Amino acid sequence: MLRCLLVFAIIISISTGFVNSHEETGQWSCDSNPQTRIKADYKPGVITLDGHSDDWVDVDGFEFSLLPALDPDQENEYDGGKMIVKALHDGNDVFFLLQVDGDYAYSTGISTKCPSVALMFQVGENASYHRMGGCAESPDSCTSKTCRGHEVDIMHFSIGSAIPGRLYGGNPIDNGVGNGGDRFGQLVDLYAWNPHCQYLDGISPSGNDSSAQNNWKGAWWHDSFTTHSGFMKEDSPYASGGQKGTYFFEFSRPLRTMDHLQQDVQFTIGQPSKLSVAFWYPVDGNPWHGSGHYSVSCDWLLLDISPGSTLPTKVDSTNSWDAASAFSLLLSVVSFCLSVFVGYWVSKAKSVPFTPLDHL
Ligand SMILES: *[C@@H]1O[C@H](CO)[C@@H](O)[C@H](O)[C@H]1NC(C)=O
Ligand SMILES: *[C@@H]1O[C@H](CO)[C@@H](O)[C@H](O)[C@H]1NC(C)=O
Repeated sequence: MLRCLLVFAIIISISTGFVNSHEETGQWSCDSNPQTRIKADYKPGVITLDGHSDDWVDVDGFEFSLLPALDPDQENEYDGGKMIVKALHDGNDVFFLLQVDGDYAYSTGISTKCPSVALMFQVGENASYHRMGGCAESPDSCTSKTCRGHEVDIMHFSIGSAIPGRLYGGNPIDNGVGNGGDRFGQLVDLYAWNPHCQYLDGISPSGNDSSAQNNWKGAWWHDSFTTHSGFMKEDSPYASGGQKGTYFFEFSRPLRTMDHLQQDVQFTIGQPSKLSVAFWYPVDGNPWHGSGHYSVSCDWLLLDISPGSTLPTKVDSTNSWDAASAFSLLLSVVSFCLSVFVGYWVSKAKSVPFTPLDHL
């Protein structure tokens, strides 16, 4: 309760890229920088989903301070460094790279003692960033009806059971069951109406729907690793703890999914979507808890899915059709003349009288 009051008491103001917070009573408000737009340009055939960042060097990144999501106070900024977010799409899939400096921390099987990341997207038109959709219902009353319009889509990757460089997320076994889970790597596809009404895709308090899928895929890496090929589970923890370096988290998802439950964001080329990025880190080796995460912003950021190229103008397309029809007209005139000539030649040849051999 105290935390809720605190959250509501915080008023954030961002000016020229940095955030100040004041504790004031009243509604939560956040003046995030409206200029902040992450651009996902059309660049097909560039990204391999392997956790490595070398293929992203020519893609512009967007840098963010990581402030505690529940109390975005500059004083409590993540002290490991900033987060760089990159995005692009290839016409079918959208790709994300999250890059954040951090001393290497990894405890096999204990996700809360490893870093973790999540992406959150607005689905319902009334879904707020604050309180993850902002539906006012409690867990025993939130349903797709009572919280209609407050849906957010979440991808959460907890790397405690994920081998670096290996691909996790949607897999045939969990997708066969029909929900957004990932039993192998904990790269799960969720939706929420508020922090207390958060479920795997397809799971709902009022009944499950086995048509859901986990549409995300992803991998992670830390640049203190010395091998670039084929880690296995027995290599865990893959590097010694505490080494300076940078974590990389790489994700992809189809622009459109087959969701019909209002649990997935649908991206449209040429249109913006609203997103946010969260980061968990075991500060000083202490396990993190669900709400104790950092965020790149105190409100939605805009994600632009850029078109590949501008369409040819009407004049150009008319001209090309004119050329094509002129050519086909020429062809048909030539073939008509040819057929008249062949017909004349055949009838002329036929006028030679036929003389049976046995009459000779
Ligand atoms: C969003 O909120 C507005 C204003 O309260 C309302 O008119 C609209 O129906 C809501 N949208 C949905 C999808 O519930
Ligand atoms: C929905 O699925 C979850 C997880 O598989 C399960 O725990 C729950 O009992 C299911 N609910 C219903 C109503 O079948």
